[in-house]
Amino acid sequence: MRIFVVTGHTAAITPDFPLDDLPGSAGRLDILARCVTAAFCTSHGIRRYVEVYLVLRDQVTVRFEGARLKRLNPDERSTGALIKHALQALREGRSEGTPGVSVFQDGLEGVLSKLQAQGVDCYVLDENGRDIRTIDLREPAAFILSDHLNFTPHEEELLSGFERLSLGPVVLHADHCIPLVHNELDRRLA
Ligand SMILES: C[S@@+](CC[C@H](N)C(=O)[O-])C[C@H]1O[C@@H](n2cnc3c(N)ncnc32)[C@H](O)[C@@H]1O
Repeated sequence: MRIFVVTGHTAAITPDFPLDDLPGSAGRLDILARCVTAAFCTSHGIRRYVEVYLVLRDQVTVRFEGARLKRLNPDERSTGALIKHALQALREGRSEGTPGVSVFQDGLEGVLSKLQAQGVDCYVLDENGRDIRTIDLREPAAFILSDHLNFTPHEEELLSGFERLSLGPVVLHADHCIPLVHNELDRRLA
C-alpha cells in the first residue's frame, strides 16, 4: 500500500464552490485534484493499492481508497466534483460522498495517529531531506507533502519525528512529486 497525505492550506471545507473555479473560490483545490489523479491514474487504469488523504485546512480530511474508488477520471474538474460530493456528505452527516471517497472531521494529527496505529512507515517529502534513492522503502509507506505553501509551524511540529526524503534538488509542484515517488517504488518492484 502506498499512501499520500497532502495538506491543503487554503482549500474549501464546504461544498459551496463552483467546479469552474477550483483555483479561485475553491482555494487552490486544483492542486489537490491534480495530486489525486497523479496518485491513482496510470495510462490505462487506476492504481488500486494507493490511498490519498487530503487534509483540508487541518480540519477536514477527504480520503480516497483505490481499492473501492469509482468515477475517477484524469481531469481536475471531475476530481473536484468527487471532493465536492464528499464535503456535501459531511454537511449531511454522511461519511462517504461517492464509492471510495470518505470524509471525516480530522486534521493532520488524527491522520498521522491512524497511519501509525496501522504500522505504516511515514516520510515527509522535503527537497532538503535524504535522497530517496539511498534508503530502503517497504510498503505500507506514507509520503506527506504540502500544497503550494510551506507546512505550518504546527504541522512541522507534528512531522518533526519523521524522516525527510528528497526527490532531487529542485523544488517541484506537489502533484509532480507523486509520480516520482511511484517511479522509485515501481522500479524497485519491477
Ligand atoms: C510547491 S512545494 C511547497 C512550497 C515550497 N515549500 C516553497 O514555497 O518553496 C510542494 C511540496 O512538494 C514537496 N516537494 C517539492 N519539491 C520536492 C523535492 N525536490 N523533494 C521532495 N519533496 C519536494 C514538499 O513536500 C513541498 O512541501
